[in-house]
Amino acid sequence: MPSLVKSRVALPVAVGFVAAFIVGITWFYRVETKPESSPVSRGAVLATAAGCAACHGSSIDDPRANFRLSDSGWQPTGIAPIWEEEHSAESIITWVTHGVPDSKRARHQDLLMQMPAYGDDGHFNAAEIKDIAAWALAVGIKGFQGYDNIDEDMPDLTADEVAALEEGELVLLGDRLSRQVGCYQCHGELGQGRIDNPASFKGYIPGFQGDDFLKLTAGGDPAEIRHWIEHGRGRAIESGLLGGLAQNYFDAQAIPMPGYAEILRPAEIDLLVAYVQWLQRQGPMEATDIEAFADLIDEQL
Ligand code: HEC
Ligand code: HEC
Repeated sequence: MPSLVKSRVALPVAVGFVAAFIVGITWFYRVETKPESSPVSRGAVLATAAGCAACHGSSIDDPRANFRLSDSGWQPTGIAPIWEEEHSAESIITWVTHGVPDSKRARHQDLLMQMPAYGDDGHFNAAEIKDIAAWALAVGIKGFQGYDNIDEDMPDLTADEVAALEEGELVLLGDRLSRQVGCYQCHGELGQGRIDNPASFKGYIPGFQGDDFLKLTAGGDPAEIRHWIEHGRGRAIESGLLGGLAQNYFDAQAIPMPGYAEILRPAEIDLLVAYVQWLQRQGPMEATDIEAFADLIDEQL
């Protein structure tokens, strides 16, 4: 009875194939949707979990109340925003770990609301506190670049002049233009990624570095980056079977990227392409890298 033998073998083989296929697809999906992060994007999540904004507010225009005990009783005072003073990575790490540096402890203890010692009290470990510092420093750059200079005119550069910019000039102008036209609003401070985006493939908007970025820009191809900026989408979704699949996610996502073709001059797009490539080369920035980034801008101002 050859046909029975055949089907006895064929069924398990078919089941095996289907099972292998499902495992393969699941694995592929897991790998492809595995979330990426950076110190700044992790720090943003941790700072929310830590409740920093309860005492410090969410910007320099969001004041918070406090009281200080003096000889004449409790006097009202405020709490400085995290971003009022220029901080080093080290000083933020000290504050968050110990609640206050030793040199300021006595005066701090006269306050009604005091800074928690997140490290000493075991709420966060050293790596988490470093990420919080990266976030705080990245947001702090707004203080001397964004808020103060956001209305400053961009120089009317030609493509050749953009290509000839020195590193410091590229970073100063690229960062400023990114702020003026809203790139960081969606791509995270300094393009460090992970602003939530419901119903998108990964659930968040990637930054300008890491594997997500390379996948979406054909390995960081400048023509592909330009296409994204001009049209708000990559060329991958414009053709083929995978293009159709990607298009579904693309159309479903809550926050689509706007196209800037009619907003920006061609040389401004050149500047952004060069700046985004520069950020990609830096990779996910640690707190100390962000300090160096701030210095690079500061030297130009
Ligand atoms: C319970 C209130 C409270 C919370 C929560 C809090 N802080 Fe503070 N923090 C303070 C107070 C009070 C000071 C002292 C400075 C002042 O009063 O202006 C301070 C000081 C600081 C300073 C030094 C300020 C400066 O410019 O000299 C930094 C940096 C800082 N906090 C970061 C953070 C971060 C990051 C978080 C979250 C992880 C956080 N703080 C959470 C109350 C708080
Ligand atoms: C309103 C939100 C929004 C703004 C503003 C925005 N983008 Fe995007 N951007 C997106 C989304 C969403 C994607 C697609 C991510 C995806 O498909 O998973 C994207 C993708 C990209 C990509 C592809 C690679 C990657 O990892 O990000 C580049 C490059 C890019 N944007 C550059 C820019 C630049 C430069 C600006 C400022 C001129 C900008 N974007 C402004 C939302 C935005």
